[in-house]
Amino acid sequence: MIENIEELRKEATQFNLSNLDECEKFRIYFLGSKGKLKDLFSLLKEVPADKKKEMGLALNSLKIELENIYQNANNIQNKDISQDNEIDWSRPGKKINLGSRHPIEIVKNEIISIFEGIGYSISDGPEIEDDFHNFTALNFPTNHPARDMQDTFFIEKGVNELALRTHTSSVQVRVMENTTPPIRTISPGRVYRNEAISARAHCFFHQIEGLYIDKEVSFADLKQNLLYFVQRFFGPKATIRLRPSYFPFTEPSAEVDVSCTICDAKGCNVCKNTGWLEILGCGMVDPNVLINCGINPEEYSGFAFGMGVERLTQLKYKVNDLRLYSENDIRFLSQFKSVI
Ligand code: DAH
Repeated sequence: MIENIEELRKEATQFNLSNLDECEKFRIYFLGSKGKLKDLFSLLKEVPADKKKEMGLALNSLKIELENIYQNANNIQNKDISQDNEIDWSRPGKKINLGSRHPIEIVKNEIISIFEGIGYSISDGPEIEDDFHNFTALNFPTNHPARDMQDTFFIEKGVNELALRTHTSSVQVRVMENTTPPIRTISPGRVYRNEAISARAHCFFHQIEGLYIDKEVSFADLKQNLLYFVQRFFGPKATIRLRPSYFPFTEPSAEVDVSCTICDAKGCNVCKNTGWLEILGCGMVDPNVLINCGINPEEYSGFAFGMGVERLTQLKYKVNDLRLYSENDIRFLSQFKSVI
């Protein structure tokens, strides 16, 4: 009898239960009123009395096993079918919330694409910078008061002085050190200054540096490049004016204003009734800087410019508090949509 039980168990576990029909066959064959299990139970009466209890228990546990096999297989097949039937292909899809680009990123990308369009490459440099690249090569002599123009976050003082770069002009130096002119590049990046955070100042912000070095580059080329950029960025009616200024790394140096795009240069509180908005600094690369970077100033000349991305973003989107850019407030950020 025990062999019969084992044989039936083996037969049941090998049974193909891959669809509902098979499950039904299984039920009839093993568990049905004329099924194999019933046959075995009917053999019980021929078992000697002292073995009856043992065989009864073995048979009962086989019965439970077979019922479980059947139930599980049946459940699985039913579930597959019911899932198939439940799919409603006409139901609207689940809404996926699309993120938006950060306004600084949108404006940065726009500036990059304008300059890329006139042949500028993109270059990058480290945010932790040494004294040579951030200051010395750019013609800031040691102890020169011009170093105080930019409140620096120092990481390591002394011979191997390291600091968070105060401007992206440091990338100019790195590019000139490693490239033979002609050079035409822009360097976007984050910069740091030790300033109290307010609506108008922040301890980190973003700049885009521009550098053009070749034979016979003139101030007129600088002006034309900047005018082209401004008209692409602010619209064809925008004009620029250059005011003499001072930067250690350019000579002559200038600050560039754009005609106020908010009031059409008529005068408003953003341009403080002047009709002009300051947007960037620029100049002809000082020959000392070229020498410091291994470029012969007798052979090459060039211009450089540097602009603040936050400043341009403020003008474009009329945002008047710099702190909004780094607070991660979703109500602020989700208002910006871009194609780039
Ligand atoms: N590095 C300057 C700053 O952070 C901006 C600047 C001015 C960059 C004039 C230039 C330049 O390349 O020619 O304020």
